[in-house]
Amino acid sequence: FRTLNDVEVRGKRVLLRADLNVPMHDGKITDTTRIERVLPTIRELVEKGAKVVLLSHFARPKGKVVPEMSLAPVGERLAKLLGRPVAFAKDCIGSEAANAVGKLQDGDVVLLENTRFHEGEEKNDPTFSKELAANGDLYVDDAFSAAHRAHASTEGVARLLPAYAGRLMEAELKALSAALENPKRPVGAVIGGSKISTKLDLIGNVLDRVDVLFIGGAMANTFLAAEGVKVGKSLQEGDMHETARTIAARAKEKGCDLVLPVDAVVSREFKAGAESSVVPVDQVPDDTMILDAGPKTAELISKRLETLKTLVWNGPLGAFEIEPFDRATVEVARAAAKLTQEGKLLTVAGGGDTVSALRHAGVDTKMSYVSTAGGAFLEWLEGKVLPGVEVLRAK
Ligand code: 3PG
Repeated sequence: FRTLNDVEVRGKRVLLRADLNVPMHDGKITDTTRIERVLPTIRELVEKGAKVVLLSHFARPKGKVVPEMSLAPVGERLAKLLGRPVAFAKDCIGSEAANAVGKLQDGDVVLLENTRFHEGEEKNDPTFSKELAANGDLYVDDAFSAAHRAHASTEGVARLLPAYAGRLMEAELKALSAALENPKRPVGAVIGGSKISTKLDLIGNVLDRVDVLFIGGAMANTFLAAEGVKVGKSLQEGDMHETARTIAARAKEKGCDLVLPVDAVVSREFKAGAESSVVPVDQVPDDTMILDAGPKTAELISKRLETLKTLVWNGPLGAFEIEPFDRATVEVARAAAKLTQEGKLLTVAGGGDTVSALRHAGVDTKMSYVSTAGGAFLEWLEGKVLPGVEVLRAK
């Protein structure tokens, strides 16, 4: 695909698709990572004298104008972080947008209102795509984290204008490719999470590509129970035992070492500071539940990391949000970060709870690459085609 190296942007209206879908609580932005990560692309375009027209979705207004889901506050925060004014248009198409874009001088930036205020966005309606495209001479996609959506602003517009990958999109794709497509071996994956049923495709695809797969979270309970281990009151999926056995058999066939916990932190209750104890996995008392992998498991995984060159990380190893059930996740994350900092391991992490788990461990900035993507990272791990990436490749 083509990048910003392949185009002259001076004086051009650049429609820049970012993912400004930041977490917000009571009208306040609680995490600005996604805004910060798109700044280099915006700055480069500004410095090169483009007229930058920012497009993004925000939350899920389902095709209606929902004032609480306006991008206006995100625009204000962006202006502060960018250190220059960011104009705002109350609509992403029509005369509001056209007027705001018409006023731009070279190097100016405007943010257009939430694309999902229009039904045409999620329907990938060609008419809506045309209306969006009317505000740009070319299209730059920097929204890897929204690339799993075949929407008008991620896919439709790319068909209508000369299309390029932005710097963040480039970085995400490079990191992902280094992790699973052309990894330095041996390569391992830490996959956590509560349900096998939601991660079946993911495990299936990862299994084909890695040498060792560490399973954590409640998902591990299902694998253990499927082997006949008594897991007490632990969260597990009784109807997935057969599937878990099939996965384990396939791993063996493929020469992928599937590593399950050997000990566990158990408790009678799931709450902060609850009384807990450590037991081998085959000695879980009937009236307790597994809430974290035990210290032996954390050590075993950490040691094993020393033998790897590449690691993909998705999902926590235990119920890390509630102490003391965060220990295994924290310990293994720190071990991975240390090896990464020493230049011995390439670590790529992303998806769902992963970033907050790494942040909790204090190592979110110490991995080789932490993706901004949630759902898109998961779909990529599943080996799925991401429409927003595919359309750039096709150009
Ligand atoms: C995300 O937060 O993962 C992306 O912005 C996509 O949002 P969506 O799940 O609402 O499509």
